[in-house]
Amino acid sequence: MSEDSRKFTDLIEKDRAQREGIEWRGSFLEYLEKVKEDPHTPKLAHARMHEMVTRHGMTDVRETGDSRLQRLYGDEPVRVYNFFKDEFFGIERTISQIVRYFHSAALQGEESRQVLYLMGPVGAGKSSLIEKLKRGLEDMDPVFAIEGCPMAEEPLHLIPSHLRKEFEKMLGVRIEGELCPVCRWRLKEEYQGRYEDVPIVTVPFSRHDRRGIGVVPPVDPNNQDTSVLIGSEDISKLDMYSEGDPRVLDLNGAFNVGNRGMTEFIEVFKNEAEYLHTMITATQEKFISAPGRHGTVYVDAVIVAHSNEAEWQKFKGDHTNEAILDRIVVIKVPYNLRLSEEVKIYEKMLHSSGFRAHIAPHTLEVASIFAILTRLEPTSKCDLVTKLRLYDGEEVVEKGKPLKINVRELQEEARREGMFGISTRFIMKSLDNALADSPEGINPINVREALISMVKGADLPDDTRKRYLEFLQDTLHKLYLEILEKEITKAFVYSFEEQAESLFQNYLDHAEAYVNKTRVKDRNTGEELQPDDSFLKSIEEQIAIVGSAADGFRQEVMAYLWAASRRGEKVSYQSYEPLKEAIEKKLMSSVRDMSRVITKARTRDEEQMKKYTDLVNALLERGYDENSAEVVLRYAANNLWKD
Ligand SMILES: Nc1ncnc2c1ncn2[C@@H]1O[C@H](COP(=O)(O)OP(=O)(O)O)[C@@H](O)[C@H]1O
Ligand SMILES: [Mg+2]
Repeated sequence: MSEDSRKFTDLIEKDRAQREGIEWRGSFLEYLEKVKEDPHTPKLAHARMHEMVTRHGMTDVRETGDSRLQRLYGDEPVRVYNFFKDEFFGIERTISQIVRYFHSAALQGEESRQVLYLMGPVGAGKSSLIEKLKRGLEDMDPVFAIEGCPMAEEPLHLIPSHLRKEFEKMLGVRIEGELCPVCRWRLKEEYQGRYEDVPIVTVPFSRHDRRGIGVVPPVDPNNQDTSVLIGSEDISKLDMYSEGDPRVLDLNGAFNVGNRGMTEFIEVFKNEAEYLHTMITATQEKFISAPGRHGTVYVDAVIVAHSNEAEWQKFKGDHTNEAILDRIVVIKVPYNLRLSEEVKIYEKMLHSSGFRAHIAPHTLEVASIFAILTRLEPTSKCDLVTKLRLYDGEEVVEKGKPLKINVRELQEEARREGMFGISTRFIMKSLDNALADSPEGINPINVREALISMVKGADLPDDTRKRYLEFLQDTLHKLYLEILEKEITKAFVYSFEEQAESLFQNYLDHAEAYVNKTRVKDRNTGEELQPDDSFLKSIEEQIAIVGSAADGFRQEVMAYLWAASRRGEKVSYQSYEPLKEAIEKKLMSSVRDMSRVITKARTRDEEQMKKYTDLVNALLERGYDENSAEVVLRYAANNLWKD
C-alpha cells in the first residue's frame, strides 16, 4: 500500500470507528437506563440548538481585549461565539440576540413557543446564518428516536400519561409530547402495547435525508396546500388499509421533517395566512394536525423564519395579523457597518468561490468603503467618512486632537442604519465584473470603475444613484489617493517604520526639553543642545498645528505618552494618533518630489530607472504583482501629484 493510500485508509477507518461509537440500537428499556445515566439525553429542540451554538465557547466583548470592540459596544452584554466567529463578521449584536433567544427557549421560557424571525435587507446574511445552524445540526451527535417513526420522535413519548410523573421523578427529566399516530398504531398492533420492547435507534440529522431539518420555500399563493407543512395521505395506500389506519400517512411535511431540529420558512410573509396560522399553532401549541382524520401530531422544533423589511412592514401594517405578530421574536439582521469586518466578508466569499486571480492591496477595502458609506445615515456631528472610521473603532484626528465623539451616541441617533444601502451581493458582482474586464486581476482602480458602471446601470432612485456616484467619483477617489500616497511613500522610504520611529524619538527628545525648559543631549556627541524648534514645527505643521497651538500640543503629547508608559504600554510612533499622522505626513512630504519625478517621467535616466525598479520591487513585496504595481503607479502619476 502506498503512503497516500495508507493515509486515506487511516482517515476512513478512524471516522468509521468514531461513527460506530455514536450509533446505538436497543430496546426502550435500555434507553431508559441511558436516560437515567445521563438525564440530558432527551433534550428538546431549543436546548439542543443552544448547546450546539455555545459548546465551542464564547468571549464577552468586554474581555476580548479588543479596544475597538469595547469602544463600539460599551457595557452592552454582547458576546462573540466561536461557533459563528470564523464565518460572520461585524454582526455580533445580532448573533448575541439569536443566542439569547435560544437560551431563554432552552429554559422553556415563552420564547420556546415563539417563532424566531430574522429581518433585514437582502444580502445581510439571514440565509447564511440559518445555513450555519443547519450545518451545525448535522454535525451534532444523533438523537435517539423510536425506530421507524416518520418523525424520529423522542422515545419517552412511549410512557403512558398515568406513569409519567413517576418516571419523571426516577429519571430526573421532564417528559413532554405525545406519540405520533403511526407509532401509536404500531405500539398497539405490533407490540401489543409492550412499550418497553419497542426498538430505539440513533438518528442523525441530515438535510438531504430530510431529517431534523425542514424547509418551507415561499409557495405559489394559488396553491397553498398545507401538505408541504404537515404531510399528506398517500392515496395509493388508501385501498390497502382500512379507514383510520395511520399507515396511509406520509408524515413528510416540513414540520414532520423538522421535528427535534428546526423548520425554516424562507421569505415567510409571501405565504397565505392559512400557512402562517399553521406555523403559529405549531410554535404556540407544539401540535399540528395530521392529514386526513388522524388527529394531531406533537412537534418539537425551532421554527425560524426570515424575510426583508418591506415584507415585514407590510405584514405588520395589517391589523388582522396581530395574533401572529404577538408570537414572533423579531431579530434585526442589519448589514455590517465596520470596514475591517466588511473586508473579511469578501475575503470569505472570494475564498469559497475559488477566486484565483490576483487581488491588489486595498482592493477589497475600497469596495468595502463604498458599501459602508451607502449604509450610513448622515449626522451633524461629523462627516460620513469620519463616521465610517469611528465605526471601525479608529481614532480620528481633527485639528491635531483625537476627535471626541461617542460612537454609541452616533449609533443611537441612527437606528435604521444598516437596514439600507448596497448589499454584499452587489459588491461581489462588481468584483466579478472587474475581473471579467481585466482577467490579470482586480485592483482598486478597476473595481472602482466596475462599481461606477454597476451603479449607473442599477435600478435606483435618481437621488440615490447620484449620492452613490458621488461616493465613488469623489469621496472614494480622494480617499484612495490618500491611501495610495502613503503606500508609495512606504515603498519608497527604505524601512519606513524605522524612519518613523527615529523621527518620533527625535521629536520626543526635543519636545520634552522644550516643555521642561531643559537641553537635549545629542545621542552621538553628548553635546548639550537647545531644543530644535524649527524641527518640531516641521512635524507639527503637517497636521496644521502652528503658532501658539504648538505649546499645547507638545504638552499633550508628553502627557499622553507619559500616561501610556505608566500603564505599561510600549510607546511607539503609533501611540498617539495625532503625532503618528504628523510623522507619516512628514515622511510623505519628504519623498513627494522624488515620487513625482520617478513615477511621472516618460523617459528615465539610469539613476531614475533604478529608483523606479526599486519602487516596483518594494510594491511587489507589499503584495502587488507586476501588473497591479504598474497600474497603481500610473494612476498615481496621473492623479496624485498635480503639476
Ligand atoms: N456580516 C456578514 N458576515 C459574513 N458574511 C456575510 C455577512 N453579511 C453577508 N454575508 C455574506 O453575504 C452573502 C449573502 O448573504 P445571504 O445570507 O444570502 O443574505 P440574505 O439571506 O440576508 O439575503 C453570503 O455569502 C453571506 O455569507
Ligand atoms: Mg436569503
